[in-house]
This record gives sequence, structure tokens and C-alpha cells, in this order.
Amino acid sequence: MTEQAQPKVNMEKIVSLCQRRGFIFPSSEIYGGLSSCWDYGPLGVELKRNIKQAWWRAVVQERDDMVGLDASILMHPQTWEASGHLEGFADPLVECKNCHLRWRGDDLNNETCPSCGGELTEPRMFNLMFKTFMGPVEEEASVVYLRPETAQGMFVNFQNVLNTTRKRLPFGIAQIGKAFRNEITTGNFIFRSREFEQMEIEYFVKPDTDKEWFDYWLEERFNWYVKLGIKKDNIKLRQHMKRELAHYAKECYDIDYLFPMGWAELEGVANRSDFDLTQHTKHSGKTLSYFDEESKEHITPYIIEPSAGVDRSALAFLCDAYDEDIAEGEPRAVLRFHPDLAPIKVAILPLSRKEKLATPAKQIYADLRQCWMTGYDEAQSIGRRYRRQDEIGTPFSVTIDFQSLEDEQVTIRERDSMNQIRVPIKELKTTLAAKLSGEDLFVLPPGGKVWKVEKEESSS
Ligand code: GAP
Repeated sequence: MTEQAQPKVNMEKIVSLCQRRGFIFPSSEIYGGLSSCWDYGPLGVELKRNIKQAWWRAVVQERDDMVGLDASILMHPQTWEASGHLEGFADPLVECKNCHLRWRGDDLNNETCPSCGGELTEPRMFNLMFKTFMGPVEEEASVVYLRPETAQGMFVNFQNVLNTTRKRLPFGIAQIGKAFRNEITTGNFIFRSREFEQMEIEYFVKPDTDKEWFDYWLEERFNWYVKLGIKKDNIKLRQHMKRELAHYAKECYDIDYLFPMGWAELEGVANRSDFDLTQHTKHSGKTLSYFDEESKEHITPYIIEPSAGVDRSALAFLCDAYDEDIAEGEPRAVLRFHPDLAPIKVAILPLSRKEKLATPAKQIYADLRQCWMTGYDEAQSIGRRYRRQDEIGTPFSVTIDFQSLEDEQVTIRERDSMNQIRVPIKELKTTLAAKLSGEDLFVLPPGGKVWKVEKEESSS
């Protein structure tokens, strides 16, 4: 947050758009909301699913050295002893002696309460893990924790995965799932919440190759965001200083994004050394090791961990995609999402509500829904409908007009350039498929032509 670069959008605009258009709502809003918990609405859930799908595709589907896992949220309590979370997963908590507000001590710039200026208590360490009870008896013996990271599920399953997949080093396990942290201070919308989702990779390597794989994953993960549209000026790497390193980390970099409140962590990439497998071997009494055919020795692999947040990614993609420009003389807000991330890929907009147009439009709608999340909108002028689709980031709109009834062609309008082409209905699906995978809008299908819809007919 100390750099000179300025964020292009403020948080209020993003929060307002998210709430107005159904991306993200405060949790339990009718009861006044639950602090730092958020609900993803109809468009938000699609955005989140697309982010997770793009990640899974890049790190599991397209690779032969990675496999997936879906471990449970509740784990044996000894897991957290072994991982160091019971002892060390804590932040310094201070309380104002005057207004009793609580603060994270290491977040404060001075010694007094940021709210009322009152005197603060001495810091005490506050464990961030949520505690609950397993079974009907609320006694110490049945205490379990909601996982504060998905990582541990992958460490404790190392041997299961190795035995069942017969993978050789280097290989990795990937997991997406909820994590919970009783953060002392939350805020900045979905940036820091108490319930959130992570996308984590645990990549197991031979100990003497850790540096090379660390560098590899740092680059790989950085480029993933750039390929999905994050502007290079808005993303950077930041190395952790020695005193910042987590207890398990030998080396760590954050991939930082220029959020509206300033530069902050989007993803962490850590070299966890052999800490985790050694600790779980010690605490469980089960050996977690790998037989190296080359050296004929059992070794404890080192782990490289790229750990990303789904919610922080969603916020970064929303902020980065947000833009304002002028369309047909009027200001418009547009989310320039990469097509892979856009919640709705294509919207069907009949020029009029009349049966004559609505019937073929609905046929096209039904057909395209087999392939993509497709929208249908027949309310108000075509211009207003384009604006609505721009604001939610729909890359393409398809207009069916009266001429379509004669020439069996429709108009595809592209969100960013607002350019239009006219294509035969029978070529629509293949054209959209090509455009959604990045082909230029003006590469026309057979029988297609560049087009400008001249007339607008209001149907409201
Ligand atoms: N297993 C390593 C680990 O959990 P971390 O840096 O504590 O590392 C990884 O978390 C990522 O999880 C962060 O970069 C961030 O994207 C996300 N994250 C962590 N705490 C979060 C919170 N309270 N709210 C939203 N996302 C969070």
C-alpha cells in the first residue's frame, strides 16, 4: 500500500455494482447482516465457479503431474497440533480500555485506539481457529476445529494419493474448499472475511530441487492471472522478509494486486520445506515418505505451496475488469471480463417482444443454453439492454430483428468494441464458440457480414 500506483476504481463502486446486479450480498442481510460473511448471488456464483474452473483446468486437467482432492473441513484435532496452528496460528489482540473495541496489534501505526484515541491493553495472542464440538457432548474431548486452510488435508493424504496414483516426484495435489479464520479485523468487502474459499496446490519435490520448482510455480501462478486479463501494472511479486515468514516457510512470495485500498496479497507462494510431512509423521506415528528409485532411499519430499483465495481473486477480477466509457453519447459502466470468467457468455435480445421475434429468439436461447450460460432479455430499448449486459460483463449479445425472419441471420454485438457482425443462424453456435475462445470478432463465418443495427424498436 506504499507504492505510488493508483487504483483505477474505488471500492464503493464495486460493492454497489455487486449488490445492485446480484454478484454479492451481505450474509443474512434481512437480519442486519453477519459481519465479514458474504453471499454470492446469481452472477457472483457463476463468476466464482468460472474462477475455480479456470484454476482447476490450468493446474489439474491440463497437467499430468497433478491430481485433485476434496478433503473434509473437520479434521482430527491432532492435525492442528502437528501443523503448529494450535500453538502459533494467532494474531496479537489489543483492546481499547475506553470504548472496548478490539484491534490487531500489528496493524496499528500508533499506541492508541484508532476509533476513540483511548489507551490500549497490552497485546495478547488470539488464536484464529474456530472451535466447535463433535457429537452431542460439549466437552474438551470432542473439540474440533473448522480448518483455517485446506492445505493440511493434502498433507495427511500424501501417502494415500501416492499409493493410489503411483505418481513419481515431482507431483502435486490440488484442492479447492472453504476455510475459516476468526480474523480480529475484517473488511474491504470480500478481501478479508471469516469464511472464505481457497485454491491450494501442494507440490512435492526432491529436497535439492526446491528452489527450481519454487521459481517455476511463482511464474506459473503470476501468469495465470495475467492470462485471465489482470493488467500487468496491477499485479506484482513481493518477497517476504525473514521476520514475516510463517513458521513453516523457508521462502515465500506474495502475488500482490492493486486493490482499491492499495497493494495487498492475492496469493502466497511458499517453500514449506519438509516441515509438514515431518510433523505429521512425528504426530501420527505413520511414515509419510517417498522411495526414491534413483538413490534407493526413503526421502521426505519438500513442498512448494501456491495458495490462492477464490474470494480475493473474484475481487481482483471484478476491480480489474471494471471500466467506464462512453457508448452512443452516454456514459456506460462495463465489466471487461475475460470470456472464461464472464458469468453470462451470451445474451439473446429480440429487437421486439412481439411473438414473431420472441419465438425464434427463444429457440436460439434454448439451443445456446446447451453450451453456455445464456441470458435472455426483452425488456426496454435495445440500447438499455446492451448497457445492462455490459455492466455484468457479458461478452456477446445476439440480436434477432425483423430482417432475421427473412434472411435467417442475426447480429452479434461485442461488449468491448461494441462492433457488430451479421451471421447466419446456422453458423451462430460455431461462431460464438470461436469468438469465446478468442477469435477476432471480424473473422466472419461463411455468409456473414459486418453490420450495424440502425433501427431500435422499444418493446416496453
Ligand atoms: N496454506 C497457506 C495459507 O493458507 P495464507 O497466506 O494464510 O496461506 C492463502 O492464505 C490465501 O488465502 C491468501 O493469499 C488469500 O488469498 C486467502 N485468504 C487468507 N485469509 C483470508 C481471509 N480472511 N479472507 C479471504 N481470503 C483469505
